[in-house]
Amino acid sequence: MRPLIAGNWKMNLRRGDAVALAAGIVEKCAAEPDPGCDLLVCPPAPMLHAVAEQLAGSPVSLGAQDCHAEQSGAHTGDISAAMLADAGCVQVIVGHSERRADHREDDALVKAKAAAAHKEGLGAIICIGETLAQRDAGEALNVVGDQLASSLPDAVNAENTVIAYEPIWAIGTGLTPTTEQIDEVHNHIRALLVESMGDGANVRILYGGSVKPDNAAAIMVIEHVNGGLIGGASLTVGNFWGIAAACR
Ligand code: PGA
Repeated sequence: MRPLIAGNWKMNLRRGDAVALAAGIVEKCAAEPDPGCDLLVCPPAPMLHAVAEQLAGSPVSLGAQDCHAEQSGAHTGDISAAMLADAGCVQVIVGHSERRADHREDDALVKAKAAAAHKEGLGAIICIGETLAQRDAGEALNVVGDQLASSLPDAVNAENTVIAYEPIWAIGTGLTPTTEQIDEVHNHIRALLVESMGDGANVRILYGGSVKPDNAAAIMVIEHVNGGLIGGASLTVGNFWGIAAACR
């Protein structure tokens, strides 16, 4: 399975920085040997069009960080999956723990958002992951399993869905689980996917949470890790490329 390295730029950068970052990644693709993975960048919504122009004709795909569950209507400030597709996106992240925390998004809403993405032909990157308290209580596998079961929409398949396991305590903290802990959770997710869907063996499962160029190689070789969702380290060409190159 070819891994996916996805950059989640979160609420960072201005248009000029975003365009320069996209251009830098495209330049690396042209100048360096194939990194051995698919590349996706997810800029803030106002920058999607400008970044799409920069990525045109390159192997780097465009994604978004969230979408609304409805196709259109009276939802001030929200963005529909149709609008994201129109802007050139091929994927959208749904259920990131920051959305779950900041906007009280629950599994049912995440599932509806993933379904909305699928309806517009977008892939959904569905994020799941436990808090530190849940891990310490020995609940990590149960929490992740419950989130997975409640967040997968009906039309799910390996083409239109990617799972991102992101332990909340590892996001932006510099802390990462041990390779054994990542292995255990990814194995569990794989088993649940295989059990619940026809092509569950082919769904990509990304790891996210403080992935950097210096720990990426050790994480990417874990059996059911099929790429990474990268926050902070996706904001510079060097770090993002360093992580991508770790997939070779
Ligand atoms: P981080 O964020 O790489 O900055 O920890 C990952 C994420 O939230 O997707």
